[in-house]
Amino acid sequence: MKLNKLTSAIIASTALMFGAHSALAAEVEVLHYWTSGGEAKSVAELKKMLEAKGDKWKDFAVSGGGGENAMTVLKTRVVSGNAPTAAQIKGPSIQEWGAEGVLANVDDTATAGKWDSLLPPVVANVMKFQGHYVAAPVNVHRVNWMWVNPAVFKKAGVAVPKTWDEFDAAATKLEKAGFIAVAHGGQPWQDFTVFESIVLGVGGADFYSKSMVKLDQASLKSTTMEKAFETLRMVRKHVDKDFAGRDWNLATQMVINGKAGVQFMGDWAKGEFTAAHKKAGVDFLCLDAPGTADTFTFNIDSFVMFNQNSADAKKGQADLASAIMSPEFQEVFNLNKGSIPARLDVKMDKFDDCAKKSSFDFAATSKKGTLVPSIAHGMAVPSAVAGAMQDVVTQFFNSDMSAKDAVGKLAAVAKFQ
Ligand code: GAL
Repeated sequence: MKLNKLTSAIIASTALMFGAHSALAAEVEVLHYWTSGGEAKSVAELKKMLEAKGDKWKDFAVSGGGGENAMTVLKTRVVSGNAPTAAQIKGPSIQEWGAEGVLANVDDTATAGKWDSLLPPVVANVMKFQGHYVAAPVNVHRVNWMWVNPAVFKKAGVAVPKTWDEFDAAATKLEKAGFIAVAHGGQPWQDFTVFESIVLGVGGADFYSKSMVKLDQASLKSTTMEKAFETLRMVRKHVDKDFAGRDWNLATQMVINGKAGVQFMGDWAKGEFTAAHKKAGVDFLCLDAPGTADTFTFNIDSFVMFNQNSADAKKGQADLASAIMSPEFQEVFNLNKGSIPARLDVKMDKFDDCAKKSSFDFAATSKKGTLVPSIAHGMAVPSAVAGAMQDVVTQFFNSDMSAKDAVGKLAAVAKFQ
């Protein structure tokens, strides 16, 4: 009898424990496309932090740099009424999803966490739909970088080029010395990434803004844009024969292991250098893409929250949003990811010189008016327009289309609906 009493007490308390546990342990399903070495390390930090709050991380990783594959999968899931808790979505696409009426309002978490005072307006505005927070930012990436292996340049006896004109001659010398000049992956989003840095370098921030953000027809059809296409053709001349379809992180590896001189890529590439224990300023250099000093193409990664029914799921979502914005997460995540924190108050002491330069330039270019959104990374125009423009750039990259024809095609598709 005594034993029975004890047994039932144990059963009761166990049930209570499990009951209480299941009410707290929300399952948080997170769609992302961070599958390279540096990216996986970064996202693991978010998982860790969420699990420390007693929630369960359900990983929904869809590989494919730039996120095109992930966005296709996401659309299918949402249409079938089965949205994840959160998804890695950026820029104007947040507004497109908001207009579908499927996003969750996380104002309570944002107010409690004082997001409005911690985020620069250029970041906060992107996270809101009709004035309400629907997304949490993890970082600010800079796109207009040139990643350099200095040992390669040294061995070839070549100075690192500062302009696109200098670049052609320098790349030819690297090739004569037996190196691949430009590590590139022939995927549309990578072609477009290189192209936007060229547009910025050839035309400057004002021209970039007019053509790539405002879609001004005269700028799109200008001789400056023709020059940008011609410059892209010059860069194309300096990629190796196996470039087609290569993933961006494999291209980064070519710079890391001294096969290639440079890569034009956003600073998620730095995540790969860091994961390979390479030191900024010693093993690799982060330089402005030719002609783009004092400008900054920004790319903000964020997690957008989808409507949830159960209280558990809502709690998990709030936990995720507050974890993302915590200073601890913003620091450790960005140390791995290559980007800088989205919050303005995170100390930069532990960051390397590339991140410090990025942080300085972000503020300086914002003051100067030369901070511009990346079109190749979904920050500048609606996704359908960006996609059509990207197709023109890729067609040009892989054919003998003239720069004049390319400009005409680009202008024809670059229109707001
Ligand atoms: C960008 C994204 C980065 C990085 C990169 C490669 O669009 O903002 O976080 O993951 O693609 O996938």
